[in-house]
Amino acid sequence: MAHKVLLTMDDLEAAVRVNAAFEGALFETAMVSAQDDARAAVLREDPDLVVVTGGLHEATAARVLGTVRDGRVATLALLEPTETEPAAVAQRMGLTAALVKPVDPAEVVALGRRLIERKRLQERTGILGDHPSIQEVLIKIEQMAPVTSTVLVQGESGTGKELVARALHDLSPRRAGPFIAVNCAALPETLLESELFGHEKGSFTDAAERRLGRFEIADGGTIFLDEVGEMPPATQVKLLRVLEDREFYRVGGTAPIKVDVRVVAATNRPLKDEVLTGEVRSDLYYRLNVLSIFLPPLRDRRSDIPLLVRRFVHEFSRLHDRPFRGITPAALQMLVDAPWPGNVRQLRNLVESMVVLAPTSEIRPEDIPREIREQGRERLLPVKVPGVAREVAGQELTYIVQSLLDLRLQVEDLRRRLDEHPQRVEVIEVPRQASDAEVVLAGAGGGDEGERLRAMPGQVLYQPGMTMADVERAVIEAALKQTRGNRRKAADILGIGERTLYRKLKEYEQVSVDSGTGGDAQLEP
Ligand SMILES: Nc1ncnc2c1ncn2[C@@H]1O[C@H](COP(=O)(O)OP(=O)(O)OP(=O)(O)O)[C@@H](O)[C@H]1O
Ligand SMILES: [Mg+2]
Repeated sequence: MAHKVLLTMDDLEAAVRVNAAFEGALFETAMVSAQDDARAAVLREDPDLVVVTGGLHEATAARVLGTVRDGRVATLALLEPTETEPAAVAQRMGLTAALVKPVDPAEVVALGRRLIERKRLQERTGILGDHPSIQEVLIKIEQMAPVTSTVLVQGESGTGKELVARALHDLSPRRAGPFIAVNCAALPETLLESELFGHEKGSFTDAAERRLGRFEIADGGTIFLDEVGEMPPATQVKLLRVLEDREFYRVGGTAPIKVDVRVVAATNRPLKDEVLTGEVRSDLYYRLNVLSIFLPPLRDRRSDIPLLVRRFVHEFSRLHDRPFRGITPAALQMLVDAPWPGNVRQLRNLVESMVVLAPTSEIRPEDIPREIREQGRERLLPVKVPGVAREVAGQELTYIVQSLLDLRLQVEDLRRRLDEHPQRVEVIEVPRQASDAEVVLAGAGGGDEGERLRAMPGQVLYQPGMTMADVERAVIEAALKQTRGNRRKAADILGIGERTLYRKLKEYEQVSVDSGTGGDAQLEP
């Protein structure tokens, strides 16, 4: 099917020349003039690419760009030579790309074709963003997908590492084969080894049957080793051997097994640092880091936030069947200014909660949880506007429900990762009183899958003002209290790996030491 291009006629001469070049290259084209209803034209033509030929700061351009703002359609503007900062203009206006006049029509067509193909790739992979760093990621994915070399994907939590791993698989010649994800932090050493490499019957006490490992199951496809930096040293040695020879032994096995598997590994923390601290073997690092992709934190590509917000609003308003007009400019600005430590995942979860909770069909500043609003405002303007009492209570409730939704999404995420480990923290109670709300995780009845987290009298696991990190810490403390400091059992109750628990405790110790409060008695085993 021919690609379709919609051109504005603000610069008639440029429009005619560029239009002819697109037609010559067998694109379908249409033009929109200042007299036309620009919005209707975009909706009617459903273009793959919009070319704004001039008058970028005028009404036609604004209406055309406004209609395609959720980033599905590529946009290219032809800027006047007098424009002093073309790159800044392109970012501010949410353009996919811009060229400065005079332009060569053939060049416009070549760039237009690339932009359309890139957008298609984004729709296919779900990796959204016009920021140069994301465009670079997409180019790398295109280059790396066809080959079998190992790829190391690095980036903070929630930046899209799993999305990239899946894209590498889906665009590869192995796409018909399996994509198998293993979280290396979720399992203790012995379980992880039998998970990865399988075991023979009777190889250890519980091994009643022979079991295939993930490497064997992934034969002909891709294995995604998530949080690879958390892998215990002995397993690292074995993984190194697989990477070198594509060959391994099942636990307790004597016959070598050969597989044809592509390895994609991911890590939240720079793997190089973990080599320096001795947690990761340097030879493994070099074996994993044959090709590498770095995903920038969201705060380093804020210009993508409007596009992501609009896309998520659209997605969740359809999912939850809540017709939504969108977001007000002031609310959007607050989201653009927020720090986003949880990156795209946090933004996505927040938009979902706002779509569910916003009382009108638009997200307004007051619909944004106070925490996010204030963090953004602090950076720009350290003034707190006093609110009306009733409104504050309403906001509090919004914030609680928002946090719970966040928690729910995190639990879902954990459940997905630990698909073979039964999830044990399940029931969340929300008291009706918003003002002095406390939220506890209550023990679910039934209790057929081992111990669950019980709320002790007076134990507060959530109250307004607590961040997700506070809630997590409180839940971990509660689990340790319940197991009288037994970390193995506590990790079990929480449905996380013991290593993850150790890491979190280490982080808390760090925070306590850094903030000069000394060790926290509740965290002592
Ligand atoms: N560029 C992006 N465009 C659209 N959605 C994105 C993008 N990056 C991440 N997401 C979304 O954010 C969420 C988190 O992404 P993902 O699970 O890939 O992150 P991650 O880096 O693997 O995080 P973690 O380290 O916590 O496992 C997912 O819902 C994903 O769809
Ligand atoms: Mg992940």
